[in-house]
Amino acid sequence: MPVVGKKTVDDIDLNGKRILMRVDFNVPMSSLDNSISDDSRIRAALPTIEYLRDHACRVMLCSHMGRPEGEVSPDLRLKPVRERLSELLGAEVVDGRGPAGKVPGLVMDGLQPAEVALLENLRFNKREEMNDPGFARKLASLADIYVNDAFGTAHRAHASTDGVAKHLPSVAGFLMARELEMLGSCLESPNKPVIAVIGGAKVSDKISVLSHLAKKVDTVLIGGGMVAAFLAASGHMDSDPGEFVEIEAARSLLNDSPAEILIPNDVVWSEEFAASAKPLITGVAQLTSGSLVLDIGPATVALYSEVISQAKTVIWNGPMGVFEWPEFAIGTTAIAKAIAANSDSVSVVGGGSTAEVVGSLGLRDQITHVSTGGGASLEFLEGKVLPGVAALTDA
Ligand code: 3PG
Ligand code: MG
Repeated sequence: MPVVGKKTVDDIDLNGKRILMRVDFNVPMSSLDNSISDDSRIRAALPTIEYLRDHACRVMLCSHMGRPEGEVSPDLRLKPVRERLSELLGAEVVDGRGPAGKVPGLVMDGLQPAEVALLENLRFNKREEMNDPGFARKLASLADIYVNDAFGTAHRAHASTDGVAKHLPSVAGFLMARELEMLGSCLESPNKPVIAVIGGAKVSDKISVLSHLAKKVDTVLIGGGMVAAFLAASGHMDSDPGEFVEIEAARSLLNDSPAEILIPNDVVWSEEFAASAKPLITGVAQLTSGSLVLDIGPATVALYSEVISQAKTVIWNGPMGVFEWPEFAIGTTAIAKAIAANSDSVSVVGGGSTAEVVGSLGLRDQITHVSTGGGASLEFLEGKVLPGVAALTDA
């Protein structure tokens, strides 16, 4: 097991023990029939669940889904997740019911070794997000050992990710450990050159990650809507006074970054923000402040792909354009393929929409690590301490 500075499931004796395991089963659901549209997060937790079953543990899983804010919301029940997990394990996952009542304790008492139960959505109770000490104690009372495999929720200090760990020996699961190892090693001990590919709509959303990565990597490739602010900051495009803050953020990065920052030399743009907008390709010198940058252009794709092909480590977070619209998905698709094609490199994709892109292009197997964390992977790449990791027992 890789060293993450925290104890992991294989560092302690958990034979036959009662386990409370936090997972992130906040999976995307199809609004048409309330079915799971991507079960990657469930699959990603299987190695730890199977390990616990192999060690005759009785396992109570717990997760949130969505943001019901303390109210019971029928669409956000975990029943579909429980059924999917039962299929994947080939064993029925017992309904542990709402965490606050008497039922979970009785369910745990009734489990046989290697049996698994799942509590109802933790966020149906407002005390979860409040990190309420009583709620944390209640969760802890169910088990002898707490396992956290919910990397995707590690940036939240909630009762099930933080408070509970005050009461039990608390260890990372295999997914949590792999996430920390992969994201950590590409920042702290990467093979060089290390390239970060960062997209996104706004500089202000990505300023923290850009500032942190600029100290860690050799080259940053910029894409997405925030390209406009970088073009204005570098004098390639008129400054829109309404975007002053964005442009100043881009300017300070361009001026102060220890890493080389590459910005597009051509873009796909339009005058309106719509899927049906006519895509126009132009060199950046011809842009005016009314132009909406919707993708990187073909010359930039060629340049970025060449830089990526030379990399030994690639970190990618954020699409290069409006990937949801086919006319503006070309840059993102090409960059995803360039990263996948460089089989000499370690490639790590921050989760959220970037992971969706990789999945929808069928490129997951060609990427070294696709994170299950969206906000969590971003905060990790910003250099922040994740409360759900900090709470675990030190190795
Ligand atoms: C996520 O999908 O980002 C995690 O499950 C955390 O969810 P949250 O952003 O609602 O806390
Ligand atoms: Mg989120």
